[in-house]
Amino acid sequence: MTEHSTGPAGTPQPLGERVENRSQRPDSPAFQQFMASQWAEAAPARTERLPVADFAAARRRRISERFPGERLVLPAGPLKVRSNDTDYRFRPHSAFAHLTGLGLDHEPDAVLVLEPVEEGAGDDGGHHEATLYFRPLAGRDSKEFYADARHGEFWVGPRPTLEELRASHGLRTQDLSALEVAVTKNAGPTELGGVRVRLVREVDLNVDALVDTSRINTGVDLESADALDGELAEALSELRLVKDEHEVAQLQEAVDATVAGFTDIVHVLPAAAGHRHRGERMVEGAFFARARTEGNDLGYDTIAACGNNATVLHWIRNTGAVLPGELILVDAGVEADSLYTADITRTLPVNGRYTEVQRRIYQAVLDAADAAFEVAVPGNRFRDVHAAAMEVLARRLESWGLLPVPAEVSLSPEGQHHRRWMPHGTSHHLGLDVHDCAQAKRELYLDGVIEAGMVFTIEPGLYFKAEDLAVPEEYRGIGVRIEDDVLITQDGNVNLSSALPRTPDEVEAWMTGLWHAREGADPS
Ligand code: GLY
Ligand code: MN
Ligand code: MN
Repeated sequence: MTEHSTGPAGTPQPLGERVENRSQRPDSPAFQQFMASQWAEAAPARTERLPVADFAAARRRRISERFPGERLVLPAGPLKVRSNDTDYRFRPHSAFAHLTGLGLDHEPDAVLVLEPVEEGAGDDGGHHEATLYFRPLAGRDSKEFYADARHGEFWVGPRPTLEELRASHGLRTQDLSALEVAVTKNAGPTELGGVRVRLVREVDLNVDALVDTSRINTGVDLESADALDGELAEALSELRLVKDEHEVAQLQEAVDATVAGFTDIVHVLPAAAGHRHRGERMVEGAFFARARTEGNDLGYDTIAACGNNATVLHWIRNTGAVLPGELILVDAGVEADSLYTADITRTLPVNGRYTEVQRRIYQAVLDAADAAFEVAVPGNRFRDVHAAAMEVLARRLESWGLLPVPAEVSLSPEGQHHRRWMPHGTSHHLGLDVHDCAQAKRELYLDGVIEAGMVFTIEPGLYFKAEDLAVPEEYRGIGVRIEDDVLITQDGNVNLSSALPRTPDEVEAWMTGLWHAREGADPS
């Protein structure tokens, strides 16, 4: 029993203090003084402005235009507990990352505030001044340095100083302790001369509470404030529908790393097929190694789905075996350090050769994808991309005798029988979130007009479950998806993931080529 096990006079020790029961932390003045001394000078602050700073400033300028006279509050979000006192790796909220340019592991608890100023007198001639509130690096003479396991430099590494982030990202910076005043000062009902505050909600509950308390105290109607917050989330989502040059470059970087990850998957397949029951995890692991080496992380959990598991659309358990003669569907994306993610699917024959029926199904999906690429051009509507893919699949299913009604009927809104085997959408926007721009209005998303600079996936599939009695036995237990990442250009589109083979012949040649190269490689 340690001195901490009970409080004074045997009262039970508060639960929050029990974390101290497993280790002893020195805190004598002599120790503190010694810890604060004899450290070499820190490296000089980095003062170069990063290329992303100008792009982020232009994005802020556009959102400023939309909300003059209003205070906009965008939290990065806090660290999230994984279990007990261990956190997940930090990943800031995407709207915050978009408007600050901050990526990898920056800055838990930070909040970006766009403070309204006189119209045109703000940053870059806009109507706001942007300030980033965050917890700057604490000095080595602080207790935080060695005693704070969540934030201290000794535990989790250094953070930037206020000066460093000001220089690198072109933002005003303030200590987090100034946030409360910054968010609440002069806030209140506009009809009484108060400043309207709009918040990106449900990112940081502490900031939600701060804003809500201020609203209650100043008599702001909470329900209408909620609707105003919703409009901000929608506008921030819509701001990302068309990517700038920096975002396109980051997406290409994420795609390139993902392509390299798929090469690693082909290399590991023979070993995965040799694993007694969890080959799918070996495939997942090979991809993850590449993601961590070349990027920040995964944009989403990898789907490594062999055989019938490929008919489970989001199979992320990856607990299955990898069996020769079956297909393995791998849906994976590297998230770059900037937090932009790829989202690519290939469906590979485990032993390097498609069977006749696998190839037939694969070709149908490929033809659907090619039809979708044809219409993914400026001026068409986003929904046309899905319609083009469905047209191909419905007609193919009809030709195979699988549809209970003519394709025409299936393609009508009253039919849709073909969707039994392709129940998901064909496309979604891609960016900082794998399903990017998710809060955009329907008029701008599904019903929106395709524009140059948009990036979205094209990902038709066909999924025949092992227990699907509506199809002949030879189809059962086969799932195929082909997913590419597409940039819309002025006069068409570019397949950002074209470096990965797509046709069955190309896939087979690529796989066997990689295996032969390895066999022939000189191990020395
Ligand atoms: N990886 C999820 C999706 O393709 O949408
Ligand atoms: Mn996708
Ligand atoms: Mn995907």
